[in-house]
Amino acid sequence: MNINIRALAAKCIYAVVDQGRSLADELPKQQERVEGKDKGLLQEICYGVLRFLPELENDVRGLMQKPLTGKQRVFHFLILVGVYQIKYTRIPDHAAVSETVAATAQLKNKHLKGLINGVLRNFQRKFQLEKESELDDNHSNTKKLPDAIKFNHPSWFIKKVQAAYPHQWQSILLANQEKPPMWLRVNQQHHQIAEYRKLLDDAEIEYQFIEPATGAIALSQAIDVNKLPGFQDGWVSIQDGAAQQAARLLDAQKGDLVLDCCAAPGGKTCHILEYTSDLASVTAIDIEETRLIRVHENLQRLKLSANVITGDAANPKTWWDNQLFDRILLDAPCSGTGVIRRHPDIKWLRKEDDIKTLIVLQQQILKNIWSLLKPGGTLIYATCSILPEENSEQIKDFITKQADAELISIPEDENNIGWQLLAHPNKQDNPSMDGFYYAKLKKLISHSK
Ligand SMILES: C[S@@+](CC[C@H](N)C(=O)[O-])C[C@H]1O[C@@H](n2cnc3c(N)ncnc32)[C@H](O)[C@@H]1O
Repeated sequence: MNINIRALAAKCIYAVVDQGRSLADELPKQQERVEGKDKGLLQEICYGVLRFLPELENDVRGLMQKPLTGKQRVFHFLILVGVYQIKYTRIPDHAAVSETVAATAQLKNKHLKGLINGVLRNFQRKFQLEKESELDDNHSNTKKLPDAIKFNHPSWFIKKVQAAYPHQWQSILLANQEKPPMWLRVNQQHHQIAEYRKLLDDAEIEYQFIEPATGAIALSQAIDVNKLPGFQDGWVSIQDGAAQQAARLLDAQKGDLVLDCCAAPGGKTCHILEYTSDLASVTAIDIEETRLIRVHENLQRLKLSANVITGDAANPKTWWDNQLFDRILLDAPCSGTGVIRRHPDIKWLRKEDDIKTLIVLQQQILKNIWSLLKPGGTLIYATCSILPEENSEQIKDFITKQADAELISIPEDENNIGWQLLAHPNKQDNPSMDGFYYAKLKKLISHSK
C-alpha cells in the first residue's frame, strides 16, 4: 500500500496537539517514511495546520453533527488537513479531498470515509460561496471573529502581547502566521559578503536583502542547503538574521576565553568561532546530551573546534574548571515566543504557567553564570522570546540586585533595557527577522556603581 501523506500529517498533528509532543521530534519520524518531494508536502501541511489551527477548527465547526472525540481525534485532524489544503495550497480541490479521504484506509477506519468526504465537500462549497460573497461585498467576514480565531493564537498569549505591545500586537501575531525567510550566515573566514553574493549570483540563487550590521542574507525563496555554494565545505550556514546579532554583540577578542551557555544545536557557538579567529577557547555547554550531537556536527562541517560539555548552567560547580571567562553568551532557555513562525507547535505546547517556571530558571542560570565572568568581562543575555518578563524585566531585576553588573546600552535600542527585536509581516525589501532579545552586561572591576 502506498503511504498516504495526509494520514502521516494527521498523526503528526495529533501527536503535537493532543499528546504534547514537539513537531521537531514528530515530523522527522513521519518524514522518514516518504521520499523526496513528499517530505516537503508533509512538512507544509503539518506547519500549515498548526499555524491556522483555530481558524480551521472554526471552519468545520458547523459541518458536523458532533465533534470527533477519543480514538477518533486523529480523524478530526485529518479533516483539518483537508481544509488546509483547500484553503491554502495550490493542490486542486478534488485531489485534496480524494487523497484526504483515502487516508482513512491507512488510519484503519474506513467507516469514517463517508463522514470525511461529506464534511470536506460541504466545506469546499461553503468556502467557494464565501470567496464569491467577499468579492461582491468587498469585505472579509473574518472581522467578526474572536481574536483567538482571527489571529490563530491562544487567548492568554494574545493578551500578553497586547499588554506588552499595544501598537504592534497585530503585526506580531500576523508575522507569526507567515513562512519565515531563509537567512544565510556567510562564514567570513572563507569569503567576504560581497564575494559570497557573487557566488549566489553565479548559481542563480536570488536573495532579497542583506542586513547591514552582520551581512546576514535573506534568500527570496527557501532552497535545499546542498544547492548553496560551499555548504558542505562550511562556507555558509542557515541562521536567522536575529540570531546572527549574538556574535557581533558579544564581540569576542583575540585571546579571549569564551563561554557559550545553553549552546545546542550550536549555531551561535560556530558563529562566535567564525567571527573572531585566535580565541583562546570556546566552551559550549548544554544540559541535553542528545542536542549536543548537533553541536559536534555543526563544528565538524565548519571545521571549527570548541570544548563541548554536557552540564547544567544553573549548577556550574558540576562542570566548571574554575577559569573565569572574558565573554559569556547566555542564550537562555525561554518560551520561544519570538520564533513561532519557525515552530508553530509552540503556540499549542506552551502554557501560560510555563512562563513562570522559565523565569525562575533564567534567574538561577543568570545569577550562577555571572560568577564565572571575569571582572571587566562582558555577558550577553539572549532569548528568542518577546515577553518582557523573560527579557527587559528579568535584566532590570538582575542589575538592581547584582551590585557588580552594569547594563551597556545597545545602539539599536539605546533608550530601553536591552534590545527587543520583533517579527513583522515580511516585505520584499524588508524581510522579517525572528523575535529576539539581547542585553549586554559588563562586570564592574570594583563594586562602586
Ligand atoms: C535557545 S536554545 C539554544 C540555542 C543555541 N544557543 C544556538 O544558537 O544554537 C536553549 C538551550 O538551552 C538548553 N538548556 C535548558 N536548560 C538548561 C540548563 N539548565 N543548563 C544548560 N542548558 C540548558 C536547552 O537544551 C537548549 O538547547
